[in-house]
Order: sequence, then structure tokens, then C-alpha cells
Amino acid sequence: MPLPVLMQLREDLIDLNGTGIGILEHSHRQPTYDRLLADATESCRTLGEVPDDFEILFVSGGATNQFGLIPLNLLADGATADYPDTEVWSAKAIVEGRDAVPTATIAVPFEGKKFRYDHVPAEGEMVPTVGAAYMHYCSNNTVHGTRFHTPPKAAPGVPLVCDASSEIFGRPMDWSKHAMVYAAAQKHLGVAAMSLVIARRDLINAPVRPLPSMLSYAAHARYESRINTPPTFAIHTAGLMFRWMIQEGGAREFEKRNNAKAALIYGIIDGSGDFYRPLSRPECRSLINISFRLQSEALDKKFIDEATGAELDGLAGHRDAGGVRASLYNAMPIAGAEALASFMRDFLRQNG
Ligand SMILES: Cc1ncc(COP(=O)(O)O)c(C=O)c1O
Repeated sequence: MPLPVLMQLREDLIDLNGTGIGILEHSHRQPTYDRLLADATESCRTLGEVPDDFEILFVSGGATNQFGLIPLNLLADGATADYPDTEVWSAKAIVEGRDAVPTATIAVPFEGKKFRYDHVPAEGEMVPTVGAAYMHYCSNNTVHGTRFHTPPKAAPGVPLVCDASSEIFGRPMDWSKHAMVYAAAQKHLGVAAMSLVIARRDLINAPVRPLPSMLSYAAHARYESRINTPPTFAIHTAGLMFRWMIQEGGAREFEKRNNAKAALIYGIIDGSGDFYRPLSRPECRSLINISFRLQSEALDKKFIDEATGAELDGLAGHRDAGGVRASLYNAMPIAGAEALASFMRDFLRQNG
């Protein structure tokens, strides 16, 4: 989280915009909150260059919640959806999708597990299902550190749904290729347990089956993300994050910064003579999550312990992949990547 946003939140907890009432205490049916929600939505539209025919929704529950809601809303009984499996998170989306709609088919046109998730499908490596209800994919694979440089090709006319949780606004989004993009908020937008959902109106305007309102994207759109008491603090925090990212120069600027940060770390990895071993193939490396192993688990542990001692925290790999993972989210300054690169250089010198 950027410090200016945290400091603003500290103020807003006590007194939001000079009202004398804190963000946690304001009613979500009063003009102050109306403005806050309108600001957050507008800032998101500006930052993401989101076209007018897309709804911007704030939905309680993280990305895992969307794994169930997407098929419930979009996948009719007997229909098929494509889910290329590029990692832990897309694999979870497949399991949740099958549980949500057991009467439909979740097809898996690319099985990344066979390749230890070291790459995303290259063009021609998967055959999408003609007539699928949609294709779901994960644009940046948080655990194994791969990403789609360009969105995958679904069959003609099939809407593309993207889990962008770990890279939202870290690069511009091509809306002409997507019908829906969603992201759990905790990585780039602040508070966990809420998702930003940006969806083309015609895709979500009627769920394929009757649903309770909280499970229906159409209802969230109809009631402007406040069917019930919404996660107001999380929405306000996302609004401040959108504004901060706009002030910093927007998604193009973050793409540049993320490229520069990643280049520092991959530079060390590539020059290490196989001392640092990335989990991803070079052609689909993530700019945000850089996952690698050293020559043994013992050395991984030594690296992580010594890094923690040097105030470089949070470098342990995800429990499903092990090893080391450097997460260079949008708010991580270049100095953070420089500090890690310098530590990696020293560690290589001493242990290589
Ligand atoms: C790409 C991706 N999808 C889904 C999730 C799950 O998010 P949540 O814990 O909010 O359900 C994560 C969490 O890290 C993620 O990185």
C-alpha cells in the first residue's frame, strides 16, 4: 500500500471529508456515501479506460467467490465453458465452477499441470470449444509467475472472462477482447474480501438461472453495488487506490515501472548460471510475481531466512509451489526491487 493512501485512510477513519463522522460510521444510503461510490466508480473508469458499456461493480467476497458466481450467472445447464488451467488459481476456478454448476461442462483446453505450470498456452497450443458460453483465464499467475502477454484466443464470438487479481491496472487492459475482468482487491486495491468486477452489460444483464440477489451480477448492477450494507471501507480504499494510480500516471506508467522492477530481478536470475532457477519459461514471465528456486530446499530456506534478516520480508513461495517468490505489486517502489537485486547478488557471491 502506498503511504499517502494509508495516511488518508487514517484520517478518514476519524473524519471523512470534514463531516465529523468516520468512514466506518457513515450510512451507505446518504449523500456522503453516494459521492464516495460515484467517485470510486468514476476513478476506476478513468484509470482503467473502461468503456461505457461495462458495469463497474464492487462485490463482497474475494476472487474465490467469483469462481462460483461466474458459472452461476453465465453457464446454463448443459452448456460448456473453457477454462485453460495455467496454475493453482485457475485450477481452483475449475473445481469451484464444477461444484457451482454440475449440470454444465467445464472444459480444460490447456492442462498446464502437465508442464508444472511453467508456461501459458502459446498460440495453437490449445483448441478452444466452438460455441462455449465463455472462456475463463487467469492473466497473471500469482504462484508460478507466468502471464499471458496477450489474451488467449477463445473460439469466435465466445466472451473472454479474466481473473486479473494479481495484476489489475499493472498494464492497460484491452477491453475489445474482454467481456469481463475481475480482481480480488487485496493485491492492488487495498482490502481483502472484496472484488472489483468489470463486466459488459449485455453479458450480465440476466443470469442464466434464478439466483439470490447477492449471487447475481445483474442485481449488483441494478442496486449499484449496495443490495445490502456494502463493504464501504474496502470500496473507499479502492477509490483512493484508483486515484493514487491515476496521479502516478496510470496503467501505462505502472507497466513501465513493473517492467523496470522485473528486469532488475530477472537480470540477476539470468546472469546467475543456474543458481537461481525461475519456475516460468522466459517467453511468459510475469512482471509482478517472480517465482524461483535455488539448488536445494535448504538453500531456499537459507535465502529466505537471510533475506528476512535483511528486512526483505514475504519472500517465501506459495505453499503449492515452494521456493522463493518476489511479488512486485504496483505499489512496490523500484527501491524495493533494487534492494532485493542487491541482496540476490550478494547471496550468489557467498553461496554460488
Ligand atoms: C490470480 C488469483 N486469483 C484468485 C485468488 C484468490 O483470491 P481470494 O483469496 O480473494 O479468494 C488469488 C489470490 O491470491 C489470485 O492471485
